[in-house]
Amino acid sequence: MLPVQDPAVPDFVTKLQRIDSYSEIEEIMKSEDFIMAGAAERTIFLEDTLIMSEGRRHAELKQLFAPLMSRQTLAYYELRLVEPVIQEALADVASSRGADGSVRVDVVALIHAALTRISARVTGVDGVDSQQRTERFRDLVLTLSAATTASYSSPDPGRMIAAGRDALAALVAEFLQASLDRRIELTRRFRAGEISKEDLPRDVLTSLCLVDDWRHADDVDKIPYVWRQCALFLTGSIKTTSHSLPHVFVHIDEWVKEHPEDRANLTDPEWLHRASAEAFRLHQTTPARFRAALRDVTLTSGRQVKAGEMVALHAPVANVQAEVFGEDGRYFNPRREVPDGMQPWGMTFGLGAHACLGRNLVTGIQNKGDDKHGAQGTAVRILKAMYELGAELDPDNPPRRPEGSLHDTWESVPMILRKA
Ligand code: HEM
Repeated sequence: MLPVQDPAVPDFVTKLQRIDSYSEIEEIMKSEDFIMAGAAERTIFLEDTLIMSEGRRHAELKQLFAPLMSRQTLAYYELRLVEPVIQEALADVASSRGADGSVRVDVVALIHAALTRISARVTGVDGVDSQQRTERFRDLVLTLSAATTASYSSPDPGRMIAAGRDALAALVAEFLQASLDRRIELTRRFRAGEISKEDLPRDVLTSLCLVDDWRHADDVDKIPYVWRQCALFLTGSIKTTSHSLPHVFVHIDEWVKEHPEDRANLTDPEWLHRASAEAFRLHQTTPARFRAALRDVTLTSGRQVKAGEMVALHAPVANVQAEVFGEDGRYFNPRREVPDGMQPWGMTFGLGAHACLGRNLVTGIQNKGDDKHGAQGTAVRILKAMYELGAELDPDNPPRRPEGSLHDTWESVPMILRKA
């Protein structure tokens, strides 16, 4: 088994003060003296959204969107959106047996398919229905996602950002505007007493309509605010999960080859929860996070950060730190004892006020989910479905990394379903 390596970072990151210890990053991410910061594309696509707002405004938006992730809603997503996609995708591949009699599936594509439906539903996008429309929607969202982190993926971020703007414009024309118009009308009818609250969809666009927060004064100069909020939820769900989850399959495959006694655990949700949390700890969705200081700050460690200074938080390095996770912190070990007071994934889902809103959707609720009522989380649900069909990495087609990207991710993870 190989240890995970520190991710490479683009040049602009190396020019910032580097912070890579768990305790310092935790202190900064939980401190009111620091605000969210980042490369230019973050502002272009996400300015004023939940992730880029602070203080009272952030708390208001968080409260507005929190019901979208209630236990009941998560169970709905899992049972009505994720499970059918998994079953459809697996039924599709099962009917296309290769010449050697084996059934193959690429888990990256499977995750994209499952998360495309979730992201449309959470955001409030109608018409992601036929296969053609679903694929069009997914492709546009993936182009937009790439643009929101362009500095990590391209020697020419400007071109990628332009492609992201075009993709968002196409999303608006083909999907988002009609979805917003329908929700504005539904909100009007609700206020006129023609329909009840239960008749309203539960999604980002409806939430914004209900508080009349879908138009901002700067909409003429920038990507309009309401589309920026959509961009956050569309990109925040698909790309993150499709970056993280394939690693779990790769690590588990390697682990059971070295620990065959754990092969029997591959369909045990409890074991899969631990294994996925451990893989999430080892791989994060970006090589660095950024915060800017609001005033001169001296951290508990004595480190000084000047007012206005943007610092680079090397979270992937902190998340494998030997002092916190032990000497084998860079290795995958689903039997690891989680340090007291910590989550098994460390800071992979963030810490403090901006911690991930969608985490429970991925990890389940306090490991208390079950098959029938949902809330096991999309990770365990996808893993279990695959391992029930005897999934193993395809020995003839090893996992492939994307070219020219600094993201710690897989572009393709082909698997064979031995029992399909
Ligand atoms: C494996 C999957 C995921 C990972 C690793 C992940 C990770 C993160 C991290 C690290 C942050 C905080 C960023 C920072 O502080 O700089 C965050 C925030 C956020 N995530 Fe996730 N995320 C995942 C899936 C999702 C999903 C599925 C959704 C939505 C359905 C989502 C929605 C959000 C939102 C809205 C925020 C902003 C929260 C705020 O600023 O208050 N994420 N995520």
